Amino acid sequence: MMIIEHLAKVDSTNEYIKKYLKKRKDALVRADEQTAGKGTKGRSFISQKGGLYLSKLTFHEGLAVKDAWSIMVDSAMAVVKTLLAFNVEPQIKWPNDIWVNGKKICGILIQNGFCGDMVDYSLVGIGINVNNEIADEIKDIAISLKQALGKEISVESFFLSLMLNFVSGSSIEDYKKFSALLGKKITVTKGEVVYEAVAEDILNNGALKLSSGELLYAGEVGLKVSL
Ligand code: BTN
Repeated sequence: MMIIEHLAKVDSTNEYIKKYLKKRKDALVRADEQTAGKGTKGRSFISQKGGLYLSKLTFHEGLAVKDAWSIMVDSAMAVVKTLLAFNVEPQIKWPNDIWVNGKKICGILIQNGFCGDMVDYSLVGIGINVNNEIADEIKDIAISLKQALGKEISVESFFLSLMLNFVSGSSIEDYKKFSALLGKKITVTKGEVVYEAVAEDILNNGALKLSSGELLYAGEVGLKVSL
């Protein structure tokens, strides 16, 4: 059984949904607006009305930590498949941004819980710019579906399509087909060090393999790619 809540306004759906952690219940919380949306690396995520903001909490049985990358693949690909159904061409910027026309349309924040070498629960937060205005400070790097299509679309239909696309699951091979990085020259920032490299492959454990053989893990690095 999954609990579903649709809120008009909340600080962050990723925070709100944590009340179901203690109850150990699968849940989905959606909000029309967030006042303190959270991004990766402690950043904030601007979440104005017109966008789709949701978090999905799932308790797992039998998912090993080494396979936890599948949660990211399934989430990113559910968004990709939904965008394709709305006639836009998405790309995935490893590990968790979805781009359209070289600008970010969706961000995904995953906060999983582990028990030994098993995944206890996954908490996936997805924010998609649908009909919302893009704030001035991110206009150069972010885009909405409304801008990409030149018209508003129904957030409800997008939400339903996204839910259906979550059910089917996806493979790392599917994910790689939409990668914005593979075969491209990228700029890697690792702590104080900045260097250029070519992204060669994404492995089954989610690591990004550079043509030098070096493996990069999500969260450890910042990346820029020239399109
Ligand atoms: C990122 O791009 O850095 C990740 C952004 C994730 C935003 C979503 S919106 C719904 C959920 N609630 C949050 O506070 N964050 C995620």
